Amino acid sequence: MWKCSLLGLALLSSSRASAHTRPINARSEKITWASCGLDEPSILCGNLTVPMDYTNPDSKATIDLQLLKVPAVYSPKKASVLFNFGGPGLEARLTLAGMSQQLLALTGGHYDLIAHDPRGTANTLTVSCFNTSAERINTYYYDTKNIADPEDTALIGKAWGGSKVLANACYNYPGFPQNASMVGTAFSARDLMQIVDAIEPDGLLRYWGLSYGTVLGATVASMFPDRIDRIVLDGVTNPHEFNNGYDIELWADADTTFTNFVIECLKVPNRCAFSNRNSTADDIEKDIYNILEGLKREPLVHGTTIIDPTLVRTMIRFALYSPSTFEPLSIALNSLLPPSNLTLFQAIHKQMPGSSVDLLAADESPSAIHCGDKNAPQRTFEEMEEVFEALSNESKLLGSSGIVLAQFCANWPISAKERYQGDFSVKTRHPMLVVGNTFDSTTPLRSAQNVSAGFHSSILVENGGFGHGSHAHGSACTYRIIRDYFVTGSLPEADTFCETSYGPFENKSAIDVLKEIGFLDFA
Ligand SMILES: *[C@@H]1O[C@H](CO)[C@@H](O)[C@H](O)[C@H]1NC(C)=O
Ligand SMILES: *[C@@H]1O[C@H](CO)[C@@H](O)[C@H](O)[C@H]1NC(C)=O
Ligand SMILES: *[C@@H]1O[C@H](CO)[C@@H](O)[C@H](O)[C@H]1NC(C)=O
Ligand SMILES: *[C@@H]1O[C@H](CO)[C@@H](O)[C@H](O)[C@H]1NC(C)=O
Ligand SMILES: *[C@@H]1O[C@H](CO)[C@@H](O)[C@H](O)[C@H]1NC(C)=O
Ligand SMILES: *[C@@H]1O[C@H](CO)[C@@H](O)[C@H](O)[C@H]1NC(C)=O
Ligand SMILES: *[C@@H]1O[C@H](CO)[C@@H](O)[C@H](O)[C@H]1NC(C)=O
Ligand SMILES: *[C@@H]1O[C@H](CO)[C@@H](O)[C@H](O)[C@H]1NC(C)=O
Repeated sequence: MWKCSLLGLALLSSSRASAHTRPINARSEKITWASCGLDEPSILCGNLTVPMDYTNPDSKATIDLQLLKVPAVYSPKKASVLFNFGGPGLEARLTLAGMSQQLLALTGGHYDLIAHDPRGTANTLTVSCFNTSAERINTYYYDTKNIADPEDTALIGKAWGGSKVLANACYNYPGFPQNASMVGTAFSARDLMQIVDAIEPDGLLRYWGLSYGTVLGATVASMFPDRIDRIVLDGVTNPHEFNNGYDIELWADADTTFTNFVIECLKVPNRCAFSNRNSTADDIEKDIYNILEGLKREPLVHGTTIIDPTLVRTMIRFALYSPSTFEPLSIALNSLLPPSNLTLFQAIHKQMPGSSVDLLAADESPSAIHCGDKNAPQRTFEEMEEVFEALSNESKLLGSSGIVLAQFCANWPISAKERYQGDFSVKTRHPMLVVGNTFDSTTPLRSAQNVSAGFHSSILVENGGFGHGSHAHGSACTYRIIRDYFVTGSLPEADTFCETSYGPFENKSAIDVLKEIGFLDFA
């Protein structure tokens, strides 16, 4: 099942782990590992009790972190690499299980791989403001969840009202302030170090953060610079904006990614639905924007589905996460251009990531994490109008997707009990490796450059392809660098550019590249 996060700052993750446990012999570690009941019997689960509130040493309150471990495939075992796959607000255990072969290959095979469901996710300190999903949907003006038109002032106003209604509902929900104040990124960083304390004799962190996981990574590296042995930030979010402003830069490369999607498409006629049109990439792109404009006035209807700009933009937003959905995206968009074929559109749309997902229906954790960390200067509606404009300036295609998220945060009633207050500029014990894709519609390369500029001696690698995170578009060059970094600690030259190993419209994946370069020989 495809699951997408509210912020979109996540890998797509699978559904929940089952809870079977069969205790096996504990190691010398402080965590007892047992079978998770997954198909792959070598994968283990465990729990670690940590303080609920790190700022209150007198409090005895604790929470249990739920962990999953993929054991090293080669001996001797070196240590463990911890992961966060983003969200915020998504579980991490099953994502790690699903990507275990790939991630073992990329970390060299001598490390155990560990992910825990961070606070606010799955069973750990989830933040909810409603008794049922139906109540949630009815309460905060669900129809405004994904504004696609920055000029629709009535809709923006209604959504603003909705974000205040949400804040009221949360504030009055029993137990909300307690949970919401405990799920911030600084506490999550301390949780990572608790895991390190429980499993690593040398007390050092090895970590790979993707998407929102890069905010957590930048935070843990800033708070515990002397305890960093390896840290990879991949698909980077600007942590300054995440903490002190609204996430505008997030959308910086959305339009250029879409432009280049169309250009690359036409280069591969047998995989590109636009190729029979005898039009230029420029004309096709203009035609698509015209269709979006037209749908604003008069949406198309197929069966019981209203095909409006929100539906189409949301489809584009999540399809641009990975070249693996580029060919179907071209078919879906081509079927909206005249002569349209809505049967075909609907058939493709149904299979696209994010199509059947209620982005806001699960719980309030994503907002609690995202908004509780924020200390943005703009709060009133008048002040926020500048933010809405900045968002649509940043990307005409997707910038308005950020409006509702910014509104939630402007009105959010509870701050994280601890916030990292620094400027993400430190010297870590071992330098950081930062990776950014050339065409990433949701974490632009300039955010990777921004983070790399802050961490002394960190190195930025540009993965010269498409999608969200380096796994989205395989490159032997990037993958060798990441593996060498984990295995030996070596870093490439500053500002290394890596070609991808195949075109965005080729039927290949990261796994194919890992096989070709022998990194999956253990599998
Ligand atoms: C971890 O905690 C969960 C929830 O309390 C429990 O179901 C599970 O059995 C525990 N796992 C282990 C390995 O102790
Ligand atoms: C707070 O977290 C606890 C523990 O995860 C959970 O049982 C409870 O339902 C949460 N309360 C709220 C209001 O989200
Ligand atoms: C939610 O559930 C609690 C406990 O069952 C109940 O007291 C409360 O009235 C419910 N809230 C709403 C809005 O229905
Ligand atoms: C394609 O378009 C070009 C330029 O508009 C035109 O000269 C050419 O005849 C067209 N070819 C076909 C097959 O329609
Ligand atoms: C529209 O698409 C459907 C599904 O692919 C196909 O069966 C049908 O023939 C198409 N209609 C036209 C007019 O091309
Ligand atoms: C948005 O772009 C317009 C036109 O370039 C510019 O005048 C305006 O200042 C920008 N607004 C913000 C908030 O960046
Ligand atoms: C990083 O981004 C922040 C927020 O946009 C900005 O204030 C800062 O100047 C940037 N730093 C660098 C080195 O670009
Ligand atoms: C992509 O390649 C796989 C084998 O690598 C094949 O099974 C599949 O049919 C191909 N898909 C397309 C659309 O060509």
